[in-house]
Amino acid sequence: LFSAVEMAPRDPILGLNEAFGADTRPTKVNLGVGVYFNDAGRIPLLRAVQAAERARIEAAPPRGYLPIEGIPAYNTAVQTLLFGADAALLANGQVVTVQALGGTGALKIGADYLKRLLPDARVAISDPSWENHRALFEAAGFEVQNYPYYDAATHGVDLPGMLASLAALPPRSIVVLHACCHNPTGVDLTLEQWREVLTVITEREHVPFLDIAYQGFSEGIDADAHAVRMFAAAGLPFFVSSSFSKSFSLYGERVGALSIVTGNRDEAARVLSQVKRVIRTNYSNPPTHGASVVSAVLNDAGLRAMWEEELGEMRERIRTMRLTLVDLLAQRGVQRDFSFVKQQRGMFSYSGLSAAQVERLRSEFGIFAVSSGRICVAALNSRNIGGVADAIAEVLR
Ligand code: LMR
Repeated sequence: LFSAVEMAPRDPILGLNEAFGADTRPTKVNLGVGVYFNDAGRIPLLRAVQAAERARIEAAPPRGYLPIEGIPAYNTAVQTLLFGADAALLANGQVVTVQALGGTGALKIGADYLKRLLPDARVAISDPSWENHRALFEAAGFEVQNYPYYDAATHGVDLPGMLASLAALPPRSIVVLHACCHNPTGVDLTLEQWREVLTVITEREHVPFLDIAYQGFSEGIDADAHAVRMFAAAGLPFFVSSSFSKSFSLYGERVGALSIVTGNRDEAARVLSQVKRVIRTNYSNPPTHGASVVSAVLNDAGLRAMWEEELGEMRERIRTMRLTLVDLLAQRGVQRDFSFVKQQRGMFSYSGLSAAQVERLRSEFGIFAVSSGRICVAALNSRNIGGVADAIAEVLR
């Protein structure tokens, strides 16, 4: 049965974790996967999360099956974070939100449902995009193409190219957009650019799929949701995949959500019934712990304030690492201007290093990064950043 099975390639991001784990050098640094480490090099367990977990253990709740769509109080809290507490479309009951297995799980449920709804649609993702976007939508049976996004010459967005490409797609194409902290580039659209993108999408009746896995890592919770809220105000149907992996530092708990903005309460009820079928035939219903904890934090004013403070600390530490890296590279005599790293948002920097330079970082210095040149700035700390700067300077020589 298995004699002709070929070895699949390692995952371009998670495969780096495997290679990193196997590396025996004590000075190794993992700048591959998008995970926040504190200055001590550890993944933090947030204080707000610890408090909610203590209360949950104390209460010793039973672990029955959750509803197929997940914990109601969690889903409502997700909606408030994304759309704002006063959003009219929430009051109207137009938004379907289901708990999902991280942002990836939300994308998968959304992609599978879209395949039933629009089986012949084209899917467009940014060039470049998160490596898993293409794979996920192709696995759901779609043909996937890129729209221009990153302009390496300016370290900005190729907006004319993006708009022209979106306008040339067949009507009702599915357009995957990074709502904030674009992965891998760290380069986001401005509000004005978002408006232009929204205009083309509306004219072409495309179906936007906004992926927001880093809410709170650019400016803050509300500011980072501006694209979601702009699309909501425009009154078009769209999908949102969201995740608490990063913002709650709960990577392994797989806590995310899929939200679908429909036209009215009646549509929402019918769409929910269909999405529940997709979930039931994938994994039946979601797990309890992570979403219970997130829900407890978001629905308690004190814990929520504590969480936002901790999120702000993570955001600020990443910013400090960006500034420090740029300074250290200049101090080491690197001629290339790396000041763009300071402007990039979220966990990543699209460093401009070539695949060959990334390979040298790994083989000679034990520094792991994605072959696209993406480095996770959130994994730098006061102890490893000097060595990373030394190594980057060396491979650029
Ligand atoms: C990343 O881009 O590194 C993260 O989103 C983790 C993942 O699942 O790839």
